[in-house]
Amino acid sequence: MFDPVARPEVQALRVSQIREVANAGLGREDILAFWFGESDQPTPAFIRQAAAQALTDGRTWYTHNLGRPDLREALSGYLTRLHGVPVGVERLAITNSGVSALMIAAQAVVSPGDRVVVVAPVWPNVPEIPRILSGDVETVPLVSDQGRWRLDVDRLIDALTPDTRALFLNSPSNPTGWTLPAEDRQPILDHCRRHGIWLVADDVYERLTFGPGASAPSFLPLHQPGDRLISTNSFSKAWRMTGWRLGWMVMPPELVRSAGVLLEYNTSCAPDFVQAGAVVALHDGEAEVAALRAELTAAKDQVLGALRQMPGVEAPEPDGGMYAFFRVAGCTDSVAFAKQLIADAGLGLAPGSAFGEEGEGWLRWCFAARPEKNAAGLERLARYLG
Ligand SMILES: Cc1ncc(COP(=O)(O)O)c(C=O)c1O
Repeated sequence: MFDPVARPEVQALRVSQIREVANAGLGREDILAFWFGESDQPTPAFIRQAAAQALTDGRTWYTHNLGRPDLREALSGYLTRLHGVPVGVERLAITNSGVSALMIAAQAVVSPGDRVVVVAPVWPNVPEIPRILSGDVETVPLVSDQGRWRLDVDRLIDALTPDTRALFLNSPSNPTGWTLPAEDRQPILDHCRRHGIWLVADDVYERLTFGPGASAPSFLPLHQPGDRLISTNSFSKAWRMTGWRLGWMVMPPELVRSAGVLLEYNTSCAPDFVQAGAVVALHDGEAEVAALRAELTAAKDQVLGALRQMPGVEAPEPDGGMYAFFRVAGCTDSVAFAKQLIADAGLGLAPGSAFGEEGEGWLRWCFAARPEKNAAGLERLARYLG
């Protein structure tokens, strides 16, 4: 007899613990939920209108595997302005989301048994995607140190042994908000160059930083021809377009043909009318991105400030992203704690263990919500902990 089940690697994939907790609150209308990573506001109207117009105009056909030429041109202009170095269309592919960009990158470079290094705690998709391809994933932990998250670069470099195939690095990080300091980029890139290690930078939160500068430190300005560098990105976060499912990759021109082939066999292309929305987001969306950054900075101060007033709470300062990642003294099982919060406080948070064992004991609060909603949630938590 043969069991009708998936490959062992697929069966071993972790089920999302965020979903597990969210399912525990299913059907309860009174819950204030902060578990998913998205704004509580819809996509700016001018972006929606552009897509609606494209639909009205009958733009319902397949597009090029790598994306519409006008979107790739707009993206090249946007990235060139943002990073101050030319990022030509010959390095770009449009994907059907940021997660799809990660999958295409992994399919392009990870073979069965390849060693892949990931910095954690991290959004589960980052380590699970190489695992689908039978990659062998090792994690290097971030540490919470004097109110901030810190990466020990020497420890990361030690983990990047010469036989390592790829480093997947998410900065600003979901869930911690840790952001790679500018000065740490060169040693990591140099090491990857020396050993031919692919550096896959998950840059979806690069615009959502709380300091000066239009972007978090990026590897793109340090790029040299021949570098094994891929940046994966998304329209989801900076333009509040999570439901649109649209992202992109920047990669060596030598890899683009393979990315196009992989796109063909994954999704073939992104929807035409969705790309029409993205073109206007890139051309006319800077004021909206700035407004979102200001909102998130205020929300970060509101939520982190209140959390730090609560008994037994440790809440390191995030440098970017849209999350507070904090721990409560005595919480050792974050799934159980998060379920308890639903039952007893009507509050929905993501359990830290969803982001790997490094996150056990922690909780994630997505603060991309209106101030009144954050305030009501904070009140519930304070009452529960009090
Ligand atoms: C770190 C990280 N990378 C990638 C993504 C993918 O975003 P999307 O698939 O919506 O483009 C997310 C979404 O939460 C994320 O947190």
